[in-house]
Amino acid sequence: RPAPGTTLPFAPSAPLAPTSNATGAVAFPPGFVWGAATAAFQIEGATAEDGRTDSIWDVFARVPGAVAGGDDGAVACDHYHRYRDDVALMRSLHLGAYRFSTSWARVRPDGGAPNPRGLAFYDRLVDELLAADILPWVTLYHWDLPQALEDAGGWPARETAYRFADYAMTAHEALGDRVRVWTTLNEPWCSSFLSYIGGEHAPGRTSRRDGVAAAHHLLLGHGLAAAAIREVDPTAVVGLTVNLTVADPVDPANPADVAAAAKHDGLFNRTFLDPVLRGDYPADVREWLAPYGLDDVVRDGDLPLISTPIDALGVNYYNGSSVAATPPAVVDAGVTDRPDGVRDDADAPRRHTQAPTPSPEGVHHHGRGLPRTAMGWEVQPEGLTRLLTRLHRDYTGPAGVALYVTENGAAYDDVADDDGFVDDSGDRLAYLDAHLRAVKDAIDAGADVRGYFAWSLLDNFEWAHGYSKRFGIVRTDYATQRRTVKASGRWYGQVARTGVVPD
Ligand code: NOJ
Repeated sequence: RPAPGTTLPFAPSAPLAPTSNATGAVAFPPGFVWGAATAAFQIEGATAEDGRTDSIWDVFARVPGAVAGGDDGAVACDHYHRYRDDVALMRSLHLGAYRFSTSWARVRPDGGAPNPRGLAFYDRLVDELLAADILPWVTLYHWDLPQALEDAGGWPARETAYRFADYAMTAHEALGDRVRVWTTLNEPWCSSFLSYIGGEHAPGRTSRRDGVAAAHHLLLGHGLAAAAIREVDPTAVVGLTVNLTVADPVDPANPADVAAAAKHDGLFNRTFLDPVLRGDYPADVREWLAPYGLDDVVRDGDLPLISTPIDALGVNYYNGSSVAATPPAVVDAGVTDRPDGVRDDADAPRRHTQAPTPSPEGVHHHGRGLPRTAMGWEVQPEGLTRLLTRLHRDYTGPAGVALYVTENGAAYDDVADDDGFVDDSGDRLAYLDAHLRAVKDAIDAGADVRGYFAWSLLDNFEWAHGYSKRFGIVRTDYATQRRTVKASGRWYGQVARTGVVPD
């Protein structure tokens, strides 16, 4: 294996056949974890209750135009008051695990002193889950930084990493006797590049330097928290969740396209994978990010902390990317909607639309004519097989780290009948089926994948898209807060019960 800090050779892999090898009824290994995921701000509501104060998402949602429809998180799925029913719902779906996040602004309002009333909510939730025989899978940071800490500099400020570790230990102290799985961060690419450079997520800044500093300090926060949890709780399962893609050059015979794919892979995947699992930023990433101050924020001792051994890597996968050195003839809003990496347009308006967002220099996204979800994202299950096998080969396998798919799922324009039932067998169910088969292909190819979490348990607040995009396997009727299991949810419940994806 190349030494940390070098760049692993980027050899584009050829797309696999669109249909998985895992045909017919497919049985997963015994003990495979079947779960569903949510995040605090997306479902809890009760944003001003029991001592909680504003997070950056409360404040961002008040900015005109920042969130579609002017939606906010004040009520969301009202999970804060309905968690008992929601746990019963999970039980009815035979879920073995539930991935949720704790709200920093509830646990330590304003990033200050611990708040017993806020912690008590997670106490009740964890007890309810355990009573239902559901494994609580905690994420500590799913994007809701206390606004007071943003006012003090946010993630571009080094101090935030230390405050994060304090908060992590407060949560661990309260819940660590019952919670055995601790995920520090969810999708640090989103909470750094998309939030501080892209401006599309809270806090809505548009500065490359801020985004690069935020990325490093998030990783530092991860390392500080992971090391501290390990020290007090050596048997805890500790890890982080990253959003990853498979970058394919539009023309694999064109070196410029291959270079574009390597750059996308670098700024999207390896910026986060290498420091954690190989102990340094890759050489090419260092070069790209040097003009934006990476070397100014990395201090001696940071990388050993960031590469504190982890037990589990969570992978969130929604789609792959097809990348060229030149733009597509026709700008493809759907494909370019999910912005990538580093851009330099401080005056860019905040957007919740499907407007294309510029990517790093020399990286352009092209559509491939694959089917799309309501987010405009291409449906590419085979990419998940390639991603997991590559991770196992280059990152997690050599480090003895288990892989979990901590998010996968799809938004579609659901139509509910009079009873609130959504027959999504033609789209969301098919999406889950195809991706589970892709996971099985990766397992068959030797990847150590130990679990899968559907995103999401419930329709919920889809960030800058507000409530307009529905990812749930259970429908949320926001007017009545009624939950109705969709066809995909019924199907997934059977998969979770039997461990078999049916024919
Ligand atoms: C990534 C995030 O972790 C989650 O919060 C979001 O709702 C889904 N993917 C869908 O975009």
